[in-house]
Amino acid sequence: MNDGNGVVAGFGWLGAAASSAGERADLLLLALLVVCGTVALALGVLVVWFSIRYRRGSKVDRTDPPSNDWRLETAWTLTPLAIFLSFFAWAAWDYAQLSIVPPDALPIQVLGKQWMWKLDHRNGRREINELHVPLGRAVKLVLASEDAIHSFFVPAFRLKQDVVPGRYTVLWFRPTRLGEFRLFCAEFCGAGHSKMIGRVVVMQPADYARWLESGPRRPGLAERGFELYRSLGCSGCHDERSTVHAPRLQGLLGRVVHLQDGRSLVADENYVRDSILLPRKDVVAGFDPVMPSFAGQVGEEDLQALVEWLRSTGDDRTGGRG
Ligand code: CUA
Repeated sequence: MNDGNGVVAGFGWLGAAASSAGERADLLLLALLVVCGTVALALGVLVVWFSIRYRRGSKVDRTDPPSNDWRLETAWTLTPLAIFLSFFAWAAWDYAQLSIVPPDALPIQVLGKQWMWKLDHRNGRREINELHVPLGRAVKLVLASEDAIHSFFVPAFRLKQDVVPGRYTVLWFRPTRLGEFRLFCAEFCGAGHSKMIGRVVVMQPADYARWLESGPRRPGLAERGFELYRSLGCSGCHDERSTVHAPRLQGLLGRVVHLQDGRSLVADENYVRDSILLPRKDVVAGFDPVMPSFAGQVGEEDLQALVEWLRSTGDDRTGGRG
């Protein structure tokens, strides 16, 4: 597989970890293996040693054997408890990191469908069953499914994320090794499930930039999103100049939104999606629930484009605040 120069290169059967999360996962696994292995070895040695030393007929002192020792019992109860609680804290910390996406992460839209992975880079570069990413840069995948439940699995990154119809899931990673890594669908999703394989290609940032500008393109996702914003009639109400009282959308993604029922939430990709398909679910404070649902009119790829357009309005700070 790969020549190992990661933090832990020992897990040959998996291939060396190729992402920051993967290196952490390997370290945790190694630590667990060492602790459990040490305890198992110590017990094994004691069993053998006692069975030889106290075998029938051996001449050892058997008078007055201890029946209990509270110090010993306390020690062998509390020590493993402390060790395994620290493992729990360590693992919980690592797990929590998986859900904290760095703000500068490169967003890439992923669509799972029977039976392929379609990937959209922001500038409109598209790929199927291949994902090119730059080395060392945090990458945020926004995953959607057009049909069944799929699962995005890159063993070398030690990451696996279900892709569920009707909502977005998010997965982020920071590639730490150059090269090509296998990509699988890890959820049985129909007759062609086994064909849903591909590769992740980690490149030097300069090579990646060159790659991104080459090859087949169509208008960038954000441009397509803006077209949809106009053609679907969103702009009729949400535009600045509109006479209809509707929230401004520019720069919405990532902002805190206050809702009519008193709740507040951060407008993420799922919030945008739900607001388009289920507009009465989270009504913004100060507005009437008059927006019609666009369920059935916008497909997954259109939703991805609309999300990317919204993201782009937040990037250039001229986008204004609503
Ligand atoms: Cu998609 Cu299995």
